[in-house]
Amino acid sequence: MKLVKTIIKPERFEFVKKALEEKGFISMIVTDVRGRGEQKGITLEYRGGLMNVDMLPKLQIEIVVKEKDVDSLIATLTESARTGKFGDGKIFVIPVEKAIRIRTGETEV
Ligand SMILES: Nc1ncnc2c1ncn2[C@@H]1O[C@H](COP(=O)(O)OP(=O)(O)OP(=O)(O)O)[C@@H](O)[C@H]1O
Ligand SMILES: [Mg+2]
Repeated sequence: MKLVKTIIKPERFEFVKKALEEKGFISMIVTDVRGRGEQKGITLEYRGGLMNVDMLPKLQIEIVVKEKDVDSLIATLTESARTGKFGDGKIFVIPVEKAIRIRTGETEV
């Protein structure tokens, strides 16, 4: 199993969620986060001067899936989250040792 951790623009979430649902990816953890990428945030005009906001609000989506579903999940996330502009986000794939459904004791996602 893999944990697919994705950082997206918050305004893309409804669209991404719908795309995931259509492909059968229902379960997820969503967290409001802040962060920066290579551009170190954005520069805004503020009170006649320039101000840099480096930690921008982002949305983190965590989904644990079987190995065989990773590529399809990544494709769905990439296609639905992309606007083509800076800051569209990143996807990280992390190994998961075990997942236990508390209600039944099952050890698969
Ligand atoms: N290497 C990284 N490690 C941890 N978090 C990252 C990393 N790169 C990006 N992020 C997270 O993803 C968010 C969005 O990153 P972003 O899409 O701006 O990446 P980028 O590498 O700058 O790509 P782009 O040039 O398309 O903007 C960041 O605000 C940060 O939270
Ligand atoms: Mg960036």
